[in-house]
Amino acid sequence: MTSSFRINNYDDYRKAWQKSVADPEGFWESVADTFTWRKKWDKVLEWDFRKPDVKWFINGKLNITENCLDRHLSANGDTTAIIWESNDPAEPSQHISYALLHQQVCCFAQALRGMGVKKGDRVCIYMGMIPQLPVALLACARIGAIHSVIFGGFSARSIADRVQDAQAGYVITCDGAFRGAKDIALKSLVDEALVTCPSVKKVIVCKRTHTPVSMIGGRDVWWDDLLSEINKDEAVKVPAEEMDAEDPLFILYTSGSTGKPKGVVHTCGGYMVYTTYSFVNVFQYNPGDIFFCTADIGWITGHTYIVYGTLCAGASVLMFEGIPTWPDAGRMWDIVDKHKVNVLYTAPTAIRSLMAYGTAPLQGKDLSSLKVLGTVGEPINEEAWHWYDEHIGMGRCPITDTWWQTETGGIMIANIAGITPSQPGYATLPLPGVQPVIVDEKGTVQEGNEVSGNLCIRFPWPSIIRTTYGDHERCRSAYFAAYDNMYFTGDGCYRDEKGFYRITGRVDDVLNVSGHRIGTAEVENAINSHTGVLESAVVGYPHDIKGQGIYAYVIVDAHTDTSDENCKNINATVAGIIGPIARPDVIQFVKGLPKTRSGKIMRRILRKIAEGETKNLGDTTTLLDPLVVDDIISGRQLP
Ligand code: WTA
Repeated sequence: MTSSFRINNYDDYRKAWQKSVADPEGFWESVADTFTWRKKWDKVLEWDFRKPDVKWFINGKLNITENCLDRHLSANGDTTAIIWESNDPAEPSQHISYALLHQQVCCFAQALRGMGVKKGDRVCIYMGMIPQLPVALLACARIGAIHSVIFGGFSARSIADRVQDAQAGYVITCDGAFRGAKDIALKSLVDEALVTCPSVKKVIVCKRTHTPVSMIGGRDVWWDDLLSEINKDEAVKVPAEEMDAEDPLFILYTSGSTGKPKGVVHTCGGYMVYTTYSFVNVFQYNPGDIFFCTADIGWITGHTYIVYGTLCAGASVLMFEGIPTWPDAGRMWDIVDKHKVNVLYTAPTAIRSLMAYGTAPLQGKDLSSLKVLGTVGEPINEEAWHWYDEHIGMGRCPITDTWWQTETGGIMIANIAGITPSQPGYATLPLPGVQPVIVDEKGTVQEGNEVSGNLCIRFPWPSIIRTTYGDHERCRSAYFAAYDNMYFTGDGCYRDEKGFYRITGRVDDVLNVSGHRIGTAEVENAINSHTGVLESAVVGYPHDIKGQGIYAYVIVDAHTDTSDENCKNINATVAGIIGPIARPDVIQFVKGLPKTRSGKIMRRILRKIAEGETKNLGDTTTLLDPLVVDDIISGRQLP
């Protein structure tokens, strides 16, 4: 593919950014021109953040999978699209070429069509990290069905909430998934979820773990049985569905500050253009490089930088089924060595957890193929940054700290590897097309450098969130209502004397636990549904490995015991309602919560106590009952 938009030096970056601000339409039009469109757009952009209403490449027609697959076939059909590495180090890895991936996607697309799946239908995907997972996403995109991937660590209840919210007619799952020493029974969780999901007509089950599963007649079908009826030669000839640039491509649910996850909607054209642009530039990807993204496809990082942006760029991407610490803490380095990985993109939490094992797991591993390192998902502490730099990059690989969100679709603020300067703890500079602003509580824009406040973006970029599925008002109130005519990120931010951005963490009631977004209200709702619980308040506290840990203050009724055993039971309730990732690290039973006279919980005080601060708690005079604070301090649980 042509990379006429490739940034090759600092001057290119500066010029590209300036052009993207002076003439955003012209800038993005020239990037979009390098893709395959069935029909070009009539107009590049229409937008109004107050509604919000953002449209890119108006009346443009395309199918994103023709850009991910078909357009690479003639020159690069034999190029490896996906390298798959099993959870089990003894199982052979797979190399799937663009030609083979194209065929697999076309066949599965035909199977979905044959089952009655149509353009606009919602398909939920709940699978482990096996090659059929990207095939499932791309097959949906091929026929215009809207996929909603549910991370394999979510519970049956969370699956049900997402299936119901999207009114999905179809679910694609596996018998089970391997994750380290565990084997997770995905299909039985789906079965449990579907008891409350009448919209689901068919369930497709891919075999992986050979765990016994119940197959309901008329509803459940095996992946392989479906495919056995498809003629490969015919399937590859069936044209992809023609999509409008603004037709939805997928829904991905994410936590916000209210109790219910939001279905973030991305559309076909803008998402394709921005994700490819950011991939090629941020990582300075060269044809032939092996790009290893350790994220799960259940999160936005996997959607964008395993599947869409990467494949649109014709890259070779490595996906890994397992976890970095199994069978031992050298597994990631074995994979880098085995596949001669050139670019490694991972999360600070993974770096911190591997760092805890010291350098012994690195012995004998050849990491000399690495050229670029990346991080994503949470702020990286300097210690982890330096460890990554010294021990993994051997001081010779640029590290790109990439700030972005499910809602932004692609990387927004990051140093361009080896081209713009890096600085530990800083995402540094915005990508071309991105206009960050820092505002204070009242919405006053903080001009100049050495300022901090809330991070907003003042102009649309092509992969900005379009709506929250089924509830546009929610999209407006969550992202476009806090500050007039700006997209509000929910993150706090500092701009230093050089103009570099440092993301300081969420300013709303969302926690970032091991790089996973978890709304405190969701965890509180789950805890409150446990028998005997009257009320709870959840806050984050600094955690060495996870970045943030979950600290829960819980009030129970007089008949309920406050034993360790009941803590474990509450944990089990949270795991059952949301998933194991949301389990509190610490539960403290309290008699009361610090509330203002109007009944608002003062989380600021609870956060300080969870962090270990017992003296400077700030003003407590507005509390209804200041004595509850002493009681909470004396009962503080050590994490
Ligand atoms: C946080 C993940 C600091 C931030 C791609 C954001 C980061 C949330 C960084 C989005 C980073 C992500 N430095 N914080 N480089 N990257 N975050 O939607 O709080 O899962 O709002 O998207 O993660 O998480 P999400």
